[in-house]
Amino acid sequence: MQEAELRQKLLPLGIADLRAFDVIGSTNDEALDWAATGAADASLVIADSQIRGRGRLGRHWVTNPGAALAFSLILQPTPQEIAHLALFSPLAGLGVSLALEKIGLSPQIKWPNDVLLNRKKVCGILAEAAWLGNNLQGVVIGIGINIAPAAVPPADQLLFPATCVEEALGSPTDRLEILSATIEAILHWRSLLSSKQFVHAWQERLAFRGEWVRVENTGGTAITGQVIGITSDGNLQLRTPSGEEAQVTVGDVHLRPAEEPNQEGGGD
Ligand code: BTN
Repeated sequence: MQEAELRQKLLPLGIADLRAFDVIGSTNDEALDWAATGAADASLVIADSQIRGRGRLGRHWVTNPGAALAFSLILQPTPQEIAHLALFSPLAGLGVSLALEKIGLSPQIKWPNDVLLNRKKVCGILAEAAWLGNNLQGVVIGIGINIAPAAVPPADQLLFPATCVEEALGSPTDRLEILSATIEAILHWRSLLSSKQFVHAWQERLAFRGEWVRVENTGGTAITGQVIGITSDGNLQLRTPSGEEAQVTVGDVHLRPAEEPNQEGGGD
């Protein structure tokens, strides 16, 4: 990736510093190391391809050269933001969605943060915190966006169906424009993180509203319900089959339509 071009485009948007790589293990690993050694707020790590890209729940994330966006934004949360750390990954989901809307697409956010186009996953987000004892050294928001068809893994390797921006658009696109628009939106909406507007903007794009879904947690238990919306804390509100309301907490769970297959891969 051309670091000079990236600097020219991204520093005016509020990126403090950046490291760009053609090939890297994982941009999140590099960003966590950088955060631990004093990265400034809004520093960015970006790579054209990753050989050890990581997804949620220990999954592998594939990033093929020239076909995707893979980047990690380091944020140094203010004391007020620390109270809302769980909202940083939906913030990224909203930022990516707004960037895709700018090029004429209609993304939806699968709670808490996967971005979908035509009900298929186009973007995954892995937010991680770097702690030294009780000291937060930074939050790393890793974002992977499938741009071209070569970014989308074979269907039999996927837990959730995947797509890419160009498939939805029906034409080639400039990934640096999507990168710039995403960063601009994240840095703008960051200042509104604890506001009603933020939850409203997230909820407006919420996938599967009114539909029956199954939310699983890492312990293997699951809850089935009809999606109602998102609470002011960022929890998912469901109506259970007995008609009661249930809330699912950010971070412990993930959402799938009831009839999905059971593997996940590199769009995830
Ligand atoms: C998921 O949906 O499981 C999250 C995928 C996150 C992938 C991105 S690509 C950039 C950053 N570096 C990584 O190793 N992972 C994240």
